[in-house]
Amino acid sequence: MSAKSMSTESMSAKGSSSVTVNLKVNNKAVTETCAANTTLDELLREQLGLSGTHIGCDTSQCGSCTVHFDGRAVKACTLLVAQCEGAEITTIEGLGTADNLHPMQAAFRECHGLQCGFCTPGMIMAAVDLVHQEETLDEQKIRKGLEGNICRCTGYHNIVRAVATAAKKMRN
Ligand code: FES
Ligand code: FES
Repeated sequence: MSAKSMSTESMSAKGSSSVTVNLKVNNKAVTETCAANTTLDELLREQLGLSGTHIGCDTSQCGSCTVHFDGRAVKACTLLVAQCEGAEITTIEGLGTADNLHPMQAAFRECHGLQCGFCTPGMIMAAVDLVHQEETLDEQKIRKGLEGNICRCTGYHNIVRAVATAAKKMRN
């Protein structure tokens, strides 16, 4: 993570400050100024209107805030915006479109890998990274790879089926 051109300026006598960062979000260049303690999930949702990134626990446990940071899955609630200078961020909105779903999104739909959908954006972003990282995937590897993403509804079985289905399509 680079912080090469981040600028920080004092905002009050109490020491609170703001940061200005330049990054790419879903392939679009973005320059944003926010409070220095703003996390990436807050920037995405509140300043950029990308509400597909959900906030569940806000303590790095549930995975509902998972996005890609330079191509790797990260929990956006664990990153300060100040750590994102120069980064390429992809959110669920940048993965596919309603008319042209990413194979992972299509597989979740086809295999009924969601119910309420709260965990789904984060689960899909984590699953895409898992497929990219692992040359082969079986049920055990999928369950282990997604253990940082919690789903309260599905019992996981259909999520595992969806990821296995998408992995085949992504590799063809
Ligand atoms: S909101 Fe980030 S891990 Fe739960
Ligand atoms: S579908 Fe409801 S939390 Fe996973």
